[in-house]
Amino acid sequence: MPTGAGKNIAVCVTGGIAAYKSLSLIRLFKKAGYAVKTVVTRNALQFVTPLSLETLSQNPLYCDTFERREPYEVEHVALADWADMVVVAPATANIIGKYANGIADDALSTFLLAVNKPVFMAPAMNTVMYNQLAVQENISCLEARGVHIIRPVKGALACGSEGDGRMAEPETIFNTVLNHHETFGRFANIKAVVTAGPTYEQIDPVRFIGNNSSGKMGFALAEVLAEQGADVTIVSGPTHLQTNNKNIHRIDVKSAAQMEAETVKAFADCNVAIMAAAVADFTPKKVENQKIKKTSDSLVLELVKTTDILAELGKMKKVGQILVGFALETNNELENAVQKLKNKNADFIVLNSLKDEKAGFGYDTNKVTILGKSGVVFTSELKSKKDIARDILDVVMKNVNI
Ligand code: CTP
Repeated sequence: MPTGAGKNIAVCVTGGIAAYKSLSLIRLFKKAGYAVKTVVTRNALQFVTPLSLETLSQNPLYCDTFERREPYEVEHVALADWADMVVVAPATANIIGKYANGIADDALSTFLLAVNKPVFMAPAMNTVMYNQLAVQENISCLEARGVHIIRPVKGALACGSEGDGRMAEPETIFNTVLNHHETFGRFANIKAVVTAGPTYEQIDPVRFIGNNSSGKMGFALAEVLAEQGADVTIVSGPTHLQTNNKNIHRIDVKSAAQMEAETVKAFADCNVAIMAAAVADFTPKKVENQKIKKTSDSLVLELVKTTDILAELGKMKKVGQILVGFALETNNELENAVQKLKNKNADFIVLNSLKDEKAGFGYDTNKVTILGKSGVVFTSELKSKKDIARDILDVVMKNVNI
C-alpha cells in the first residue's frame, strides 16, 4: 500500500515566486498516495493557475470563503476536519505574520485558524525580509506553538540577490512531512525521562559554578518524543527554553543533587531515559551562608564529586528499560565514549565532538555518532538539533519493547 494511502493533506499556496514549486510538491504527495486539496490566496493565483492546481490535486481548489459549493458546508471548517496534515508552501511573510497573530481575513488564513492538526510551513522570501526581527519573531512564535517550520535555504533569489530565503526544495518538504507521518504516535504508551541544560552549583548566596549548556538538545529530544506520542518528563537545569507540548511534564532544578533526585524518581517507571544534561562533575563542599568577601589575594574552593546520574540509573536499570547518555569529548572521542557506555551501563552513547564546527554547546545544530554495545550504530551530518533528536529516537525505537 502506498505510504500516503488513506491520508488527507491540504497544500496551501501563497503569493511568492516559489509557488510554481508547489506543483511539484502536490505531484509528490499524489504519487505517494495522499489525497490532496489545495487552498490558495488570491496572490498565489498570479503565479500558478487554478487549472494546474486542480488537475494535479484532482480536487477543486479553495480560494474565496464566500464562494458557494455543493454540498453546502462551512468550507474552512469542513476542510480543516478533512485534512490530516497541512502544508503551507511557499509561506510568505504575510501569511506567517497573520497566522502568528490570529488574523483571518481570507480563505487561507481563516482555514489555518480552524486547523488543529500538524501544520508545516516552508517560508520563502527575500533575505532582508526573512531576517527582519518581526518575521523571525513570528516564526519563533509559531514554532513554539508546535508549527513545523521547514527552513529556507541559501541560494539565488527571484529578486536577483543571493542569500537565506529560498524555499526548501519540494523533496525536502515532502520528506519532512512523510517522516512526521511515519513516526507519528510510534512512542504512544512509552514513558520517557530526559535531562537537559546545565546545573548551577552554589558557592555562596550570589555565586555559582555553571557551564555553557543551552539545553537545546535535551529540549529537542523532549519535543520530538512528545510529538511521537511519548509521555515525557524533562528534568531541566536553568535555561530560557520553553516547552509547548502538553505531553511534556517539566521539572525545573538548579543543582546536580536536585537533578539527581528528580531523575531517579522519574526513572522508576519509565521505558526510556535520555541524559542530555551537562551535569556539574564537582560541587562546592560547603555553601557559604554569606557572600564571600574579597579579603585575601587568593581563594581556594574545595569541591567534591557529584553523583553521576547516568551511572546511577545504569545501576538501577531493569530489563526493558533503555538508557541513553551523551559524551562530550575533545580527544580520543570513540575510545572515551566506549568506556562511558561500559562504565555507566548505558545502552547507547551519543557522542559530540568539540572538534566539529557548529555542533554541540549553544548551537542550533549538532553532529553526532551513536554508539551501541556492538559499536557505532549511526553517524550523522551536521543538522538541526530536532533532526538529530529524530535520528536518536530512530535508534531507540529499534530497541524498545513496548
Ligand atoms: N552525567 C550525569 N551525571 C553527572 C555527570 C554526567 O548524568 N554527574 C551524564 C551526562 O548527562 C551525559 C554523560 O553522563 O549523558 C556523560 O557526560 P560527560 O560530561 O561527557 O562525561 P563525564 O561522565 O562527566 O566524564 P568526563 O567529564 O570525565 O568526560
